[in-house]
Amino acid sequence: MHTVNGAAINISGLVKHFRTGTAPLKAVDNVTLEIAAGSMVALTGPSGSGKSTLLHLIGAIEQADAGTIRIDDLKITTLRRAALAAYRRQVGFVFQRFHLLPALTVLDNVIAPVLPYRTRNDHSTRARELLAEVGLTGRERALPAQLSGGQQQRVAIARALMAKPRLLLADEPTGNLDSTTGNQILDLLLRLRDEHQMTIILATHDQRIAARSDRLIRLTDGRIADDLDLTDGEDPTDTLSRATRLRL
Ligand SMILES: Nc1ncnc2c1ncn2[C@@H]1O[C@H](COP(=O)(O)OP(=O)(O)OP(=O)(O)O)[C@@H](O)[C@H]1O
Ligand SMILES: [Mg+2]
Repeated sequence: MHTVNGAAINISGLVKHFRTGTAPLKAVDNVTLEIAAGSMVALTGPSGSGKSTLLHLIGAIEQADAGTIRIDDLKITTLRRAALAAYRRQVGFVFQRFHLLPALTVLDNVIAPVLPYRTRNDHSTRARELLAEVGLTGRERALPAQLSGGQQQRVAIARALMAKPRLLLADEPTGNLDSTTGNQILDLLLRLRDEHQMTIILATHDQRIAARSDRLIRLTDGRIADDLDLTDGEDPTDTLSRATRLRL
């Protein structure tokens, strides 16, 4: 595979409940999982199966009720507040709805998350480079509303890369895009994964997008129902044979 600098993830006995009404609901129910550094893993499964919750636990946006998550040697499930905040800053997040700030230019959206830590000028060179990488040179001064959905998602991806993450979490990153644009976003993520040597975990309803990953994990009711290695001896670009194998 690729040379790796991306994070390796080790999850053991992970549980997350939500209290809704009377009975607690197990959104993530005893998940044990290892993810290789530098791989792209797709999480699929029906609505409510726990994909987003699992991403939020890995990104330390939500706290687990039981179990452990290790990111390389760092056990994030027992970190104290300051260390957790530092960890969160090193994780890239991409969402279905882009979450760009409408009043800020494209360039300032990319810079925004790292702004408290240095001045704007320190960051603008890197932000411009990242915008070039995602194909948006020339649009730095545009407002999000002046961009297409695919372009807005590219801005969100550039923003997620500002902190040089070794782990990128993407929750339905193509969910608001047509299939051509969605595939372009996936091309971009795969290229960036190789160039920046990241581990990527992506939740998606789109089986064709999922089939382009290195590994497909299907959740049902917060548990792992299927775990398929899609790389074994196959041409990684041969999405058609993968799709056939997955009976898409
Ligand atoms: N903050 C919350 N409070 C209460 N219940 C929640 C909360 N977040 C998620 N849940 C519940 O946990 C379960 C898993 O939700 P989750 O959002 O992880 O599913 P998902 O697989 O991402 O679904 P979708 O495909 O619709 O995005 C669902 O039953 C959901 O209602
Ligand atoms: Mg979700």
